[in-house]
Amino acid sequence: MDILTAINERVSCPRLQEPPPDAAQLEQLLKAAVRAPDHGLLRPWRFITVAGEDRQRFGQMVVDACIAGQPDLNEAQCEKLRLAPLRAPMVLVVVAEIQVEHKVSEIDQIMACAAAVQNLLLTAHAIGVGAMWRTGAPALSNELKVALGFSPKDEIVGFIYLGTPCGSPRVPSMDDPAPYVRQLPHV
Ligand SMILES: Cc1cc2nc3c(=O)[nH]c(=O)nc-3n(C[C@H](O)[C@H](O)[C@H](O)COP(=O)(O)O)c2cc1C
Repeated sequence: MDILTAINERVSCPRLQEPPPDAAQLEQLLKAAVRAPDHGLLRPWRFITVAGEDRQRFGQMVVDACIAGQPDLNEAQCEKLRLAPLRAPMVLVVVAEIQVEHKVSEIDQIMACAAAVQNLLLTAHAIGVGAMWRTGAPALSNELKVALGFSPKDEIVGFIYLGTPCGSPRVPSMDDPAPYVRQLPHV
C-alpha cells in the first residue's frame, strides 16, 4: 500500500478481535515506529507488549496505580480500568523515556514518540492490523509509570490497542484543512 493511501484510509479501530499481530507483523510495526524523526537521535521510545494473560495483570496494575493516585475511585470505575486491556488481543504501551536537562527539549522527545506511534498506526493499517491509540487518566499516572519500570519524569505516550479489525472499517472523514490555515500576523 502506498503511503498516501495509508494516510487517507487509516481509521482507529475501537473493536478488535483475535488474533493479535504475529511476530513478523509486530516486528514490522516496531521497525516503522523507530524510523520516526527523532531530534538529537535520543531514541526516547520504549515499547512494552502486553498480550494474552498478561492483559489481566496489566489491568490490575492500572487499577492499583490509579487507586494510589485517586483513592476515591469506585468499584465500577476500577472494573472498567481492569477490563480495558481485554478489549484487544494486544496492547502496546509506548513510553517516552525522557532525558532531563538535555538540549533537546522534553516536548521534542515526547513528539518523537508520538511520531513513532503514527508511523506504527499507518503501518498497521497497511498490513491489515487494526489499531487504536488510547491514553486517558492511566497515561498520566506516575504510579503506573513506576510500576512499568519508568519514573515520573517519563511520559506514557499511549496504549496502542492492536488486533484484527471487527466488521467493515469506518470510512474516515476527509477533513478540509482550509479552516486550520492561518496567515502570518503583521505586527
Ligand atoms: C494522543 C491521542 C490519544 C488518544 N486517546 C484516546 C482515548 O483515550 N480514547 C479514545 O477513544 N480515543 C483516543 N484517541 C483516538 C482518537 O479518538 C481518534 O484518533 C479520533 O477519534 C479520530 O479518529 P481516527 O483515528 O479514526 O481518524 C487518541 C488519539 C491520540 C492522537
